[in-house]
Amino acid sequence: MKFKILTICSSILLGTISHADTKTYHLEFDKDTYKTEHVHVDGKDIEVRAYTNIVYVKHPADIKYEVINIYIPEQYFKNDSINGYNANTAPIFFQNNIGGYMPATPATLIQQGPPMGPRSGKNINTPSTLAYAIAQGYVAVSPGARGRTDRYGKAPAAIVDLKAAVRYLKYNDQVMPGDANKIISNGTSAGGAMSALLGATGDNKDYIPYLNKLGAAQTSDKIFAVSSYCPITNLDHADMAYEWQLNQIHDYKKMNISMLDYKVERKLVPGVLNSHEIKVSNDLKNAFPQYLNTLKLYDKEGKLLTLDSMGNGSFKNLIKDYLIRSAQSAIDNGKDLSSYEWIKKDGKKVVDINFNGYLEYLGRAKTPPAFDALDLSSGENEEFGNLQHDKQHFTSYALANNQAKTNSMADKKIIKMMNPMNYLNDSGVSQYWRIRHGAYDKDTSLAIPTILAIRLENKNKKVDFALPWGVPHSGDYDLNELFSWVNQISRL
Ligand code: DHB
Repeated sequence: MKFKILTICSSILLGTISHADTKTYHLEFDKDTYKTEHVHVDGKDIEVRAYTNIVYVKHPADIKYEVINIYIPEQYFKNDSINGYNANTAPIFFQNNIGGYMPATPATLIQQGPPMGPRSGKNINTPSTLAYAIAQGYVAVSPGARGRTDRYGKAPAAIVDLKAAVRYLKYNDQVMPGDANKIISNGTSAGGAMSALLGATGDNKDYIPYLNKLGAAQTSDKIFAVSSYCPITNLDHADMAYEWQLNQIHDYKKMNISMLDYKVERKLVPGVLNSHEIKVSNDLKNAFPQYLNTLKLYDKEGKLLTLDSMGNGSFKNLIKDYLIRSAQSAIDNGKDLSSYEWIKKDGKKVVDINFNGYLEYLGRAKTPPAFDALDLSSGENEEFGNLQHDKQHFTSYALANNQAKTNSMADKKIIKMMNPMNYLNDSGVSQYWRIRHGAYDKDTSLAIPTILAIRLENKNKKVDFALPWGVPHSGDYDLNELFSWVNQISRL
């Protein structure tokens, strides 16, 4: 593949918007105010109308982030078609740039720096995922959203902002090329979590007071489909899941996600769990089977997935099956996995995986509790803060075992609103889901995306779920497969 992108020709320059602003914005899409840009991907040259930094609510809390970039192929203004799509039928690819629960500005046609740069595996200044989406004939959009480091960006601000952006697109469906009934959300990590939450909570009333406060368009916020890479989700149960999986691994290389010049910087700090951390790990590990069993998840044969008090059982075997499938497909695609003696093979067929061997290979990236830190030091603690307390707990375990100077718990309702698992019974859930979590990803337990995928399947949603071999915590690494899934569901 040849990558090249040129961004040229500004026909109309939009004025830059100041950070604090008290004016009321209008929600009507202005078709005539745009810049012309060009996407050069795979030998194609596609002229694009770029509508950038459009405020998507009437009364924004923060106009640095509550803005959306919309890119539309010029051909759609000339009754032309691309890849079988036209102005009425083109899916809208909705890419959020959220990482680390930090504030996010909208993505552009060119790959920006961290957080999305390193995590997407794309080099800075090469075509972004949005550029590839344009080459598929999609209308490519990216909303910004508030995040944890801003006083007014705490939960549930990010999901409220994404919903408001969806509403802006729906409100303008008649005047804007692209089909707002075919919005496909995509995100990675915290952005993958937000993508899943967006797909789980369509039109849910819990979010309406927040949307009304911002002056979001009075339309639906239900989306068509979800693509979610390595979602850091189900945060109120992710600590247990992490220790269920990694309890026996005491060496760690911990990721410190700190903020540097509005970028997420990731540093690796090595260490070994101390005796208190081991106790915390044991407590959390022991609590996980009860949570898992109360979910009442079923496999494809209709058999209940369970764990015994030791943490073994059919749910663990199912995760092993996904890993076996992952290793098998790597081998089928020519990868040599013979150095991993914990993969049991019969010829070229993977017959078993020694789970403990896999865990040694994977390693640990977080100390217990992985998300709700006892000293309130995690990014998630900051995400669940409020105007009084910058950082708060969101699990009863961490609250009871607090080691920070302050000790307060996030509002129960807000904790509920950040977890897609709480909404999957509802009518606003998207029908189509694609969930990927790399088999070399140790930012959250494999159980977390698996629980989400299985619950969705049990609710009769169409779910494409896999743990791609050797892939670390990242997203957008398989755009050909992603887009063939988008094309398939969009043409049904
Ligand atoms: C991200 C990674 C994490 O490990 C985490 O706890 C939260 C967010 C991220 O990359 O977005």
